[in-house]
Amino acid sequence: MKIKTYKTSEINPCREASKITATILDELNDLITVGITTDEIDNYCLDRIKKLGGSPAPLFYRGFPKSTCTSLNRVICHGIPSKDRRLEEGDILNVDVTTIIDGWHGDSSRMYKVGNISVKAQNLCNITHSCLIESLNVIKSGSPISLIGKKIEEIAHFNNFSVVRDFCGHGVGLNFHENPSILHYYDKDYDNVKFVDGMIFTVEPMINAGKYHSKILNDGWTAVTKDKTLSAQYEHTVYINGDKIEILTESPNGIFYN
Ligand code: MF3
Ligand code: CO
Ligand code: CO
Repeated sequence: MKIKTYKTSEINPCREASKITATILDELNDLITVGITTDEIDNYCLDRIKKLGGSPAPLFYRGFPKSTCTSLNRVICHGIPSKDRRLEEGDILNVDVTTIIDGWHGDSSRMYKVGNISVKAQNLCNITHSCLIESLNVIKSGSPISLIGKKIEEIAHFNNFSVVRDFCGHGVGLNFHENPSILHYYDKDYDNVKFVDGMIFTVEPMINAGKYHSKILNDGWTAVTKDKTLSAQYEHTVYINGDKIEILTESPNGIFYN
């Protein structure tokens, strides 16, 4: 498998795109409350991306109609922002933002909690966040890429949750999605694919409260849990810079998780 690598001196626009994405995700903490529609959230993100000098990667990507993905409750990913649904107390929402600067992509998503949420929903968000952070800790140039899925499954299964198999992380950089796929479950084929210095990729585990199976709704995009249980996701874009791992989409305000 051909894996693209990038020199630290050439990726400043990717750092910038990622920083814009993270800044906007930070801002959503104040915006997202009971009564707002996911379309209003999408418009806010589009406006901020443009003001900060970028463009939204999802808009018209393979026909996707909006600037962000907004995935509510049982929606696993690729939810389409809509005017029809106002957020209600107890909802959990993933907002996935990808900004492009000079052709470089910065891709990240987080969960937002609307008012008081159930203990189950809170626990699912906590565990999903741990799956992301703990799996980032195993990344090292020369190590097998399969370590990511091993770590995520270990944490999710210990908590009686399941790991979505139909969607994965991906190489990113001058393309939105490129090789390699970053699986969030263990696959022995990835024992022989190694992390290399200079890679840029995402890790974006989707964790379900019930079974892992997904299906796509008639709009052709929205992926939901088959058994109608809740799903959560967090995503970062990371860069392997020698012995260091740069989390390009780290919150500039240190508020990635709350
Ligand atoms: N941002 C998503 C990801 O993490 C991809 C969204 S593709 C879209 O890979 F077309 F749905 F926007
Ligand atoms: Co992604
Ligand atoms: Co994303």
